Amino acid sequence: MKIVKILALSALLSVGAMADETLAANMSQMESGLNSVQKGFLYNTPDLIKSGVADIKKADALFHDAEATKKFLPKDKHHMSNVAFNAAKRIDKASESLLKALDKKEYSKASKSYSEIVNACTACHAVVRGW
Ligand code: HEC
Repeated sequence: MKIVKILALSALLSVGAMADETLAANMSQMESGLNSVQKGFLYNTPDLIKSGVADIKKADALFHDAEATKKFLPKDKHHMSNVAFNAAKRIDKASESLLKALDKKEYSKASKSYSEIVNACTACHAVVRGW
C-alpha cells in the first residue's frame, strides 16, 4: 500500500515537473521571440520580426484554452485562469495584426501590435506574480 502511495506521489510530482519544464521552455521561446521582434523593428529587418512573431505564436499555443492555461498557473491563481487565457488570446490576436500590418508595410501600426504583445505578456505575469 505504501509503495503504491509512493508511486502515485512520484508520478504526480513528475507530471508537475514536466509542466514546469514545458512552461520554462515556452517562456524562453516567448522571450527570444520578443527579442527578435524588437531587434527587427530597431534594425528595420522585417524577416527578423516575422521569425520572432512565429516563435511567440508557437510558444503561446501552450495556452490554447482556459483549462490548459490553468495547469501552468500557481494553485492560488487557478480561479484567474480566464484572465490569464485572455492575455494569451491578446498575444495571438496582436501577432496576427502585426503580421498583416507588416505585409502592407505599415510599420508604425505593426509596432503598436508589438507593444500590445508586451502588454499582454505583462497582464498574465501580473496575475501569476500578484503584481
Ligand atoms: C497565460 C500566462 C502567460 C503569458 C501570456 C505569458 N507568460 Fe511568461 N510566465 C508565465 C508563468 C506562469 C511564468 C512562471 C512564473 C513566474 O516567472 O512568475 C512565466 C515566466 C516568464 C519568464 C521567466 C521564466 C523563468 O525561467 O524564470 C519569462 C522570461 C517570460 N515569462 C516571458 C514571457 C513573454 C515574453 C511573454 C509574452 C510574449 C509571456 N511570458 C507571456 C505565464 C505567462
